[in-house]
Amino acid sequence: MKISDLDPSRVPTHIAAVMDGNGRWAEKRKLPRTEGHTAGEQSLMDVLEGADDLGVKWFTVFAFSTENWSRPPEEVQFLLNFNEKILLERQDELHERNVRIRFIGRRNRQVPKRLIRRMEEAENLTKKNTGLTFTIAFNYGGRAEIVDAVKQIVDTGMSSTRITEKTINRYLYDSTIPDPDLVIRTSGEYRVSNFLLWEIAYSELVFSEVLWPDFRRENLFTAIKEYQDRDRRYGGVSET
Ligand code: IPE
Ligand code: IPE
Ligand code: MG
Repeated sequence: MKISDLDPSRVPTHIAAVMDGNGRWAEKRKLPRTEGHTAGEQSLMDVLEGADDLGVKWFTVFAFSTENWSRPPEEVQFLLNFNEKILLERQDELHERNVRIRFIGRRNRQVPKRLIRRMEEAENLTKKNTGLTFTIAFNYGGRAEIVDAVKQIVDTGMSSTRITEKTINRYLYDSTIPDPDLVIRTSGEYRVSNFLLWEIAYSELVFSEVLWPDFRRENLFTAIKEYQDRDRRYGGVSET
């Protein structure tokens, strides 16, 4: 699938991706699981560029979930270091591409201070950029996000009668991100795994059998083609 095969008038505004299958990719090659994460960096950069070339304005990826702390400590440590390394090595290149980097997730004591500093640096460096907004969900859980929003709302002392869906939206980790139009999950797993629960109420879900380290912009375009062939009704009736 190429960009020219897609309908330019129906490009999703916001795409979110669950980058899954790194461990299986490595195991198939008799490599340590961490080699799969390393290989996934290429996929991420290629897919981001492809999305940017197509004119996608928001791209969000699931990098580390609140549940991923339960992995073996060596893998957790690897993922923390790896995310820091990617930020250091790629932020300038993304900045040159006019990409704005954002993070969503719990920035609590579980996350090493140095990594939090790096996240803030990347956000600050790129905050004035006007191109694609690249949001990284790190130490992110959809339920945790809703709990954190509810806590903040309660702390304001707001009367329950004033609480609407907009109120909840306003207290999400980043209230400026539009809901995803399209969510892609790779590696043939058909579940949401606590990603963006509130935000995906009306997203189109596309599942790909391709393992994340093999996923490239062509696969992204195939997923977008599937999205373009869908009929989004939002509970209403079809326009055609
Ligand atoms: C996704 O790949 C990356 C993260 C969750 C950080 P996995 O590591 O989950 O790979 P599989 O699902 O075990 O193959
Ligand atoms: C979801 O993948 C989290 C990320 C991609 C960061 P997992 O591999 O952790 O999810 P499960 O365990 O298959 O549900
Ligand atoms: Mg997985």
